Amino acid sequence: MSTQTKVRKAIFPAAGFGTRFLPATKSIPKEMLALVDKPIIQYGVEEALAAGCDQIVIVTGRGKSAIEDHFDVSYELECTLEKRGKTDLLAVSRQVSHMVRLSYVRQKEAMGLGHAVLMARDLVGDEPFAVILPDDVIDAKVPCLKQMMDVFEQVQSSIVATQVVEGPAISAYGVLDGKPVAGNPKLFDVSGLVEKPKPADAPSKNAIIGRYILTPKIFDLLEHTPLGAGGELQLTDGIKGLLQTEKVYGYSFEGVRHDAGDKFGMLKATVEFALKREDLGPAFRDYLKTLKL
Ligand code: UTP
Repeated sequence: MSTQTKVRKAIFPAAGFGTRFLPATKSIPKEMLALVDKPIIQYGVEEALAAGCDQIVIVTGRGKSAIEDHFDVSYELECTLEKRGKTDLLAVSRQVSHMVRLSYVRQKEAMGLGHAVLMARDLVGDEPFAVILPDDVIDAKVPCLKQMMDVFEQVQSSIVATQVVEGPAISAYGVLDGKPVAGNPKLFDVSGLVEKPKPADAPSKNAIIGRYILTPKIFDLLEHTPLGAGGELQLTDGIKGLLQTEKVYGYSFEGVRHDAGDKFGMLKATVEFALKREDLGPAFRDYLKTLKL
């Protein structure tokens, strides 16, 4: 791998159709759906910044311009808020637009997660990078990607975040095969992985979730990987390729992951995030108690 040892860039694939959230996602990018009052992609961008990334690459497609507008300066809005003396709201709006260096690259056809990551190749270059799936919102004391960065500093190899998934639900994930690393129960030395296995064929309960640190070797591999299941280029096929020549680790992160790209997951995340908010939590808790469930 390259001599660069610090992860500075984070790729956000955001060009999918978000079909699980139709009809909302017909005209609104899934990544812009609000969890309480913040688009889900902003949680991920904040996580990447907190982990030390200073360059964000968002992979977009048709109908996704709201994402670019969100992270841009909204001159009219800011002027109006300034005139009205709404300094709190002005700060909220400015905080987003002044956040970070953002680049956008287009995925012309939604040909899978691996293909979306490959679109960012020229912007990433020959250095290790992070991938954050914006619909996985992770609530953690230490941001999940920061936890992974700390592991990366030691292992200097690709790392995929995992969580234990019980029962038939495992079939919705990429699942790791391998063994725990001696002395570090949170790390898993990966020997193989299976995409969306039948429950009986799952090699473990360790499912891959939407946080990765990858070495740039994966770009060459993705470039030469044939389209897989559903005519899509799977990121997991690229990771399988990495395993032929490099170490790959699974990392069982500390925190709670919410699948906000799914209606039920979004509902649960909304309740949990709202309850934790100082401004909304107490009133929301009282309201929930009045519901006859
Ligand atoms: P998902 O599979 O969760 O997103 O991909 P999706 O395909 O948009 O959603 P559903 O399943 O139809 O509801 C995870 C992330 O990868 C992006 C998506 O935008 C999402 O943020 N993605 C997926 C791409 O950027 N390009 C693709 O070709 C596929």
